[in-house]
Amino acid sequence: MIDLKNELEIIITKDHSPTIINKKIDETYHSINDALQESMHVFIENGIRRLNDNTIKVFEVGFGTGLNSALTMKYALENKNKIYYQTIDLLLIKKDIITEYFKFFDFEILQNLQLLNKLKWNNYYSLSEYFGFEKNRTTLQEFKSEDKY
Ligand SMILES: C[S@@+](CC[C@H](N)C(=O)[O-])C[C@H]1O[C@@H](n2cnc3c(N)ncnc32)[C@H](O)[C@@H]1O
Repeated sequence: MIDLKNELEIIITKDHSPTIINKKIDETYHSINDALQESMHVFIENGIRRLNDNTIKVFEVGFGTGLNSALTMKYALENKNKIYYQTIDLLLIKKDIITEYFKFFDFEILQNLQLLNKLKWNNYYSLSEYFGFEKNRTTLQEFKSEDKY
């Protein structure tokens, strides 16, 4: 079971982008060297882009800050690539911390981050012709879905 007594703090990584550290388990949400560049490199460039598919379904364990989903939404809209994105998390980041985290981003990513964080849990949203999104507040152990990923 996920530890809900988290101690989350923002840290600034070497490329000057922020990430979150859970001090209780000494785990960072992204690379401490280059949080934003790592997400772009691993999740988008070597993940989503390489699939090279007209319709992509993503299942992410750990919505976290929402950075991966925000970058995927940007990719979907820019490339007119239809993406259905489903993510789960049980541990929420407190409002004051996520609001502080937002301050490090330029408008292009910020607007997606704010939107995806603001959306209600356990609802599906068709945010554009190219991006469908749902976040579920649950653990991987308890998550049930009939969708195939
Ligand atoms: C490394 S962070 C993910 C970072 C996230 N992808 C982002 O872009 O910010 C890991 C996340 O997974 C969540 N998590 C860890 N174990 C989980 C589980 N068993 N079920 C659901 N979420 C889990 C944590 O609460 C945390 O938010």
